[in-house]
Amino acid sequence: MNVIKSLKEMAKIAQEPSNSKNTIGFIPTMGALHNGHLALIRQARKENKRVIVSIFINPKQFTNESDLMKYPRTIEQDVELIQDFVDFIFIPSACEIYPQDFQLSISVGAHTHDLEGEFRPGHFEGMATVVLKLLNIIRPDRAYFGLKDYQQFIVVSQMVKDFNIDTKIIGVPTIREISGLAMSSRNTRLSDKEKEISTRIYGILQKAKSVILNGAQNPQDIEKFVASELVKLPKSKVEYVAVRSLQLAKMKVIESDMVILVAVYIGEVRLIDNIIVPSGIQGADH
Ligand code: PAF
Repeated sequence: MNVIKSLKEMAKIAQEPSNSKNTIGFIPTMGALHNGHLALIRQARKENKRVIVSIFINPKQFTNESDLMKYPRTIEQDVELIQDFVDFIFIPSACEIYPQDFQLSISVGAHTHDLEGEFRPGHFEGMATVVLKLLNIIRPDRAYFGLKDYQQFIVVSQMVKDFNIDTKIIGVPTIREISGLAMSSRNTRLSDKEKEISTRIYGILQKAKSVILNGAQNPQDIEKFVASELVKLPKSKVEYVAVRSLQLAKMKVIESDMVILVAVYIGEVRLIDNIIVPSGIQGADH
């Protein structure tokens, strides 16, 4: 395993002439790595010859300075956690990624004002911009994204399609703690009590899923049910609850596979989670 800090060096190594047996699997991260990231790495390892992880806390995707400052920075532990499982760890500096004359950014269309886009203005533009840069530097065969950030996965998939980028975007099911809490770098900011409260979010999503599987027809009734359960959680502030198609289209009636997405503050920590619900009778959580 090698830690690479220079963008040029990373590009040179990654773009060495490759063949079908020398594929690259890429996992972009912002560090504070946990078992969810390890699941992405495991899948990349199975499907590619070489695995590259980037660690870059992207200032452009934070809505405000204080959120950026509070983001956990654990580079040494991160390297220790993943070094045996990857070929390269790319840790670029902000001034290499965004030199002084950097100007353009990606526009994310309908996602600008929807769900995460509504509550985190500029987030997806910043996220898509850095992901595009990283994909251009590394040119991986496959890039892996956790489905906990479901809308991010959809935005990146759309970007790759719209700009004819030759990388397959792979969504990896959410890894949960035994309690059901979706793993997230932000969980480290929860107190023990808040963590216990947060574990109930997934239980509420599972209840909603079974209501749908038992024949509920109206997405708005499900949204109301989930919101009413979430507001009962101590210290909670609900930002959104949405029942959408797998492509995140609004639904008038429940008629296709769908995803229920939520964003809720527990205390000071903003958590997002989701559950996929098949429209058929049987289906598995992710
Ligand atoms: O999901 C994340 O950690 C970030 O949004 C990503 C994809 C690494 C881009 O900065």
